[in-house]
Amino acid sequence: MSNNFDFASFYAALARAGLGKWQSQFTAAIEQALTKRDGNLAAWLAALQELPDLPDALCNLDQAEVTAGNPLSADSPEFILLKTALLRLKPWRKGPFNLHGVRIDSEWRSDLKWARVAPHIADLHNRIILDVGCGNGYYLMRMAGAGARIAVGIDPSLLFLAQFTAVNRYCRQDRAFLLPIGFEQLPEEMQCFDTVFSMGVFYHRRSPFDFLRSLRMLLRQGGELVLETLVIDGDQNTVLVPPDRYARMNNVWFIPSAEAMLTWLAKAGFADARMVDLCKTTVEEQRCTEWMPGESLEMCLDKNNNLTIEGHPAPARAVFVANRP
Ligand SMILES: C[S@@+](CC[C@H](N)C(=O)[O-])C[C@H]1O[C@@H](n2cnc3c(N)ncnc32)[C@H](O)[C@@H]1O
Repeated sequence: MSNNFDFASFYAALARAGLGKWQSQFTAAIEQALTKRDGNLAAWLAALQELPDLPDALCNLDQAEVTAGNPLSADSPEFILLKTALLRLKPWRKGPFNLHGVRIDSEWRSDLKWARVAPHIADLHNRIILDVGCGNGYYLMRMAGAGARIAVGIDPSLLFLAQFTAVNRYCRQDRAFLLPIGFEQLPEEMQCFDTVFSMGVFYHRRSPFDFLRSLRMLLRQGGELVLETLVIDGDQNTVLVPPDRYARMNNVWFIPSAEAMLTWLAKAGFADARMVDLCKTTVEEQRCTEWMPGESLEMCLDKNNNLTIEGHPAPARAVFVANRP
């Protein structure tokens, strides 16, 4: 199964970035991850096979819509083939992308999150970056667009690997890579990343301090953590642990106040922790589209959009930046 995805260019880029000594650990983790059975994998691989060969053309990774290739006419056979194959990789949760004129209008306007994060973080130019829980790699492309030396994304979802493979078939990036592995599979002694991103993952972790420790251990000394997560109003001692679902999600564990999160970051050994952005999640940012026709935020909120349907505070997200001392 591992032969269906090709990681040779990742290993070459790892060596170029001076990280070649970690290749065997990555290989072992990827091999292990690809033994996982996913009943949909055959269909996703078939969709990848159907993607048409199109001439190389410029891509633009430095704008809201990650764009590759010259637009095809919407009634051309290649356009129809491309759109049909990409739709077979639904649901597209993160985006937007524009591949040869096919606009992937994903559930999330991920560009809005990136616009809230990017102004507040260390310049990504020439940095070695890890994105933990990277989804389909939309942000990896934006990191490459911002000049990253190498942007490594990890996410166990094979659908997201398939989506990234489709996007990169046309973006042809050799600095952004998605690996189908969990953060638990990375050796603690790695400690080599200049920036570690963890966006939209913290509240899914059962053990927040262990997770923060793992993130810290992956950074080099002086490296930067960029953590984006759900927060609620309150003081240093406020944390919501939803007894059941939160906005219909059954895997939400800890939603601290911003004050509590800052305390937790300090307790977990980070220096200079600060909150750089706070905003309510809107139904303009997360919504159903042709590319994600299922249930989205609107169906998880009460009629005034102030509470989740379970009666919890409606989602608000904060961005925290901190350093490994
Ligand atoms: C809510 S999404 C966030 C995606 C993206 N970072 C964003 O902010 O839009 C959480 C992601 O974490 C991934 N994930 C779940 N368990 C993980 C693990 N153990 N290691 C890394 N990623 C994981 C999921 O597959 C999912 O793509």
